[in-house]
Amino acid sequence: MKIAIIGAGNMGGSIARGLAKGSLIDDSDIIVSNPSAGKLEKLKKEFPGISVTNNNAEAATGADIVILAVKPWFIEPVMRELKLKSKQILISVAAGISFEELAHYVVAPEMAMFRLIPNTAISELESMTLVAARNTNDEQDKFILRLFSEMGTVMLIPEDKIAAATALASCGIAYVLKYVQA
Ligand SMILES: NC(=O)c1ccc[n+]([C@@H]2O[C@H](COP(=O)([O-])OP(=O)(O)OC[C@H]3O[C@@H](n4cnc5c(N)ncnc54)[C@H](OP(=O)(O)O)[C@@H]3O)[C@@H](O)[C@H]2O)c1
Repeated sequence: MKIAIIGAGNMGGSIARGLAKGSLIDDSDIIVSNPSAGKLEKLKKEFPGISVTNNNAEAATGADIVILAVKPWFIEPVMRELKLKSKQILISVAAGISFEELAHYVVAPEMAMFRLIPNTAISELESMTLVAARNTNDEQDKFILRLFSEMGTVMLIPEDKIAAATALASCGIAYVLKYVQA
């Protein structure tokens, strides 16, 4: 399984680190794309086996799984640029972007998609990750749940529970850090 991560910010970078620490994916099968170089250089220093690029299309070509970890307002332009194939699996961590919306931006709306809400503890393999699926089969569901269960606790939920899950499991960690800071 080759995995491309588009966006190396807080979430994309944390997922890349979590995947590299896990046992299911070789570092050499992870490629991370980001427009500016600093975050990629830092990642590469920590995990030299990971490939990095500033070209999203290059990262996505040949990947079995493409993880979108850009801000929600960049999802549309980035997805249009990627031209994903129907046999690829799309994972979006973008808060508030529904499957319906994602399906508008892909060439093959019937492709397998997951919406994932992890939190940044994923880099320490301690995330609570909520997952919703669309057009996926049992094998794909099992693989994605197994992959992310190496990075914490995972739960498959219906898409209509994703917003509540985001407030709790994703923003929750920021609230707790605010209490600690105070
Ligand atoms: N942070 C969390 O705890 C969390 C939790 C759950 C879900 N999410 C979701 O994760 C997504 C990313 O959030 P974040 O907190 O990781 O934001 P972030 O730290 O700002 O990271 C976004 C990254 O995307 C890069 N980027 C910008 N334009 C791009 C493009 N055209 N192609 C490829 N990469 C591009 C940015 O690069 P430059 O900085 O070089 O411009 C930046 O490194 C959001 O959709 C958010 O809803 C975040």
